[in-house]
Amino acid sequence: MTLILDGKRLRDKILSDIKNKVEKLERKPCLAVILVGSDPASQIYVKNKQKSAQNVGFKSELYQLDENSTSDEIKKLIEDLNQNKDVDGILLQLPLPKHLSGENFLELIDPNKDVDGFHPVNVGKTLTNTSPLAISCTPKGIVRLLVENNIELEGKNVVIIGRSNIVGKPLAALLTNENATVTLAHSKTKNLAQVAKNADILISATGICGLITKDFVKEGAIVIDVGISRNVQGKILGDVVFDEVSKIASAITPVPGGVGPMTIAMLMENTLELYFEHAKF
Ligand code: GUN
Repeated sequence: MTLILDGKRLRDKILSDIKNKVEKLERKPCLAVILVGSDPASQIYVKNKQKSAQNVGFKSELYQLDENSTSDEIKKLIEDLNQNKDVDGILLQLPLPKHLSGENFLELIDPNKDVDGFHPVNVGKTLTNTSPLAISCTPKGIVRLLVENNIELEGKNVVIIGRSNIVGKPLAALLTNENATVTLAHSKTKNLAQVAKNADILISATGICGLITKDFVKEGAIVIDVGISRNVQGKILGDVVFDEVSKIASAITPVPGGVGPMTIAMLMENTLELYFEHAKF
């Protein structure tokens, strides 16, 4: 029987634990989200993040900036939020409009408020396994989903397909820290199916719908699908051809309902952890 790794159920448990903790707090944790422009996917993501934050009892602030905002306007807002003692987490939704995409605003966010774990200090601390203030939400959520399902990581051959700064690279670091043997594959990898077939745990984060067929998967492997794309009917699909791969995998995440909900849960967890850090001072 193939185990379905249910991200929704685990998310609900994590969020319910967070809500119980927040109810006892005098000052509520505050998540500030900056959205520049009107990218439709970003608008949906941001709405979901805000809804989750409100549901667990956080204060949720949205700073919606015009598509044509200047670099200085964004920098000023980040600086103000860095100084604001009521704000625990700052999230700058990506991608930014084209004219701003070359700028590294993430470096300007105070690492103590870097709820996404994208600041170079937190990325570096993740790499060196030296207590980052926050860990990137999707990789953290994937590791949590594996651990909570009693999937051993030590000594396992893990193949990650996709080397993005948000998922692939930090995930490779986290799994290496858990003593897995990690291969980080990408669009230039030769014989990708053969490399993937070596994996005890195969993680695909490409956004290429249907890339992972049964030819990429070893019998009994664990398959994690980070891909999100939409077909012409608007249906959300992953990288993995679920129907055929689920027949040979020992465990698999569905899309939707696998990794996606875990990302939101980890964002809320990061916000609460940063709040407790701030409460120390
Ligand atoms: N855009 C897509 N995913 C993310 C994320 O996890 N954080 C931010 N800030 N932007 C994103």
